[in-house]
Amino acid sequence: MFIMDKLVVEGGKALKGNISVSGAKNAVLPMMACTFLAEGQYRLDNVPMLKDVKTMSKLLENMGADVSLKENSIAIKTNGHTKLEAPYELVKTMRASIYVLGPLLARHGYAKVSLPGGCAWGPRPVNLHIEGMRKMGADIKIEKGYIIAKARRLKGAHISFDIPSVGATGNLLMAATLAKGRTIIENAAKEPEISATAKFLNAMGAKIEGIGTDQLIIDGTDSLHPADESVIADRIEAGTFMIAALITGGDITLENVDPHHVAAISTKMADAGAIVTEGPNWINIHSKGRIKPVDMTTAVYPGFPTDMQAQWMALMSIAKGSSIITDSVFLDRFTHVAELKRLGADITLDHNVAVIKGTSHLSGAPVMSTDLRASASLILAGLVAKGQTDVSRVYHIDRGYEKIEKKLQGLGAKIWRTNEQLIT
Ligand code: UD1
Repeated sequence: MFIMDKLVVEGGKALKGNISVSGAKNAVLPMMACTFLAEGQYRLDNVPMLKDVKTMSKLLENMGADVSLKENSIAIKTNGHTKLEAPYELVKTMRASIYVLGPLLARHGYAKVSLPGGCAWGPRPVNLHIEGMRKMGADIKIEKGYIIAKARRLKGAHISFDIPSVGATGNLLMAATLAKGRTIIENAAKEPEISATAKFLNAMGAKIEGIGTDQLIIDGTDSLHPADESVIADRIEAGTFMIAALITGGDITLENVDPHHVAAISTKMADAGAIVTEGPNWINIHSKGRIKPVDMTTAVYPGFPTDMQAQWMALMSIAKGSSIITDSVFLDRFTHVAELKRLGADITLDHNVAVIKGTSHLSGAPVMSTDLRASASLILAGLVAKGQTDVSRVYHIDRGYEKIEKKLQGLGAKIWRTNEQLIT
């Protein structure tokens, strides 16, 4: 028998008020990995206190770094005594652990990193990471579930991705900073979290050009130095709260956010009937009447993020009419469909295309989190469902949303954390 946290939501309250958006999980994780590129003392601020950040801290500590996490700041001290291995036990709980591959290989000439394996919702290969490192001269073997990479010194290469992978761009970018010569990454990911990582690397003395474009040019240097940085705002957390405003018929102002980073979400929100107003670092969302159905296809940045697909589906479940949602980035990312249906949503799924017939209301029920963003969609649906929704296995949501129930309570939501006994 296990005891696990669950979130209980009583739907029906229009959420109103202000929230401060936390730092971006997907930016802080690669930035933490960057610290293995140069020994010394680093400080990162605006760090979200999340399970994934704690997992990355454990991984860094396991490899020999001193890590101290306090009040949204993290101090990391790396030294020469690095254990060049990321074990399965840590990598299996967080795929982003693969980010240590590039820095370890570039700085120490060796890395042994567990293969991340799949997700609850499908396979997530790392072939682009491996092929890129091989192009940079690494000798890579896969043995007993581990990537074992060696290189005397990586050399600059011309890498052109078939798919603009976020993780592969980040990993090769980090590796290329210490390679001999110039690396060009074509069809690179343009996600803000990659740009933030590149800027951090430049603050460490790297020479990266083309930041924010799909062509990154990196001139390798012999050494880098530590730096301090503040983490950018989490656009996915922001987008989730934007939907919370519209789905509950509320009025929420998000603070500490970059409106450019959520432009694709804002546009769709306005199409769905929200009134969106924004300033340099804030966005206000309030609703006017019933939600309109809006089709959506996920795409790489600056398109609509796949990390917001499940939340958009929760919103469309109570729209006035039918909509089509297509995930073109992760074709299998639909485990939330069955759980949303338990709350009364009318969704038909065919491969990576979901047809949602909006209903006038959802009804509370016990549901189960299956992954991080699926959990967020269930909480959003629970906020508008009649009656009580119990969302179990919330360890998924704790991976990526800082104090979610506290932030929602501050906006007037009836949501609380409790625990339940799971019989296995
Ligand atoms: C990152 C994000 C994740 C987000 C995703 C897409 C982090 C820690 N995670 O994940 O939240 O959902 O970007 O925005 O930043 N692919 C390959 N081979 C590879 C790598 C990827 O085929 O070697 C494919 C994937 O299967 C997928 C697509 O490329 O279809 C995009 O994946 P990728 O951008 O790499 O996602 P992650 O970096 O894993």
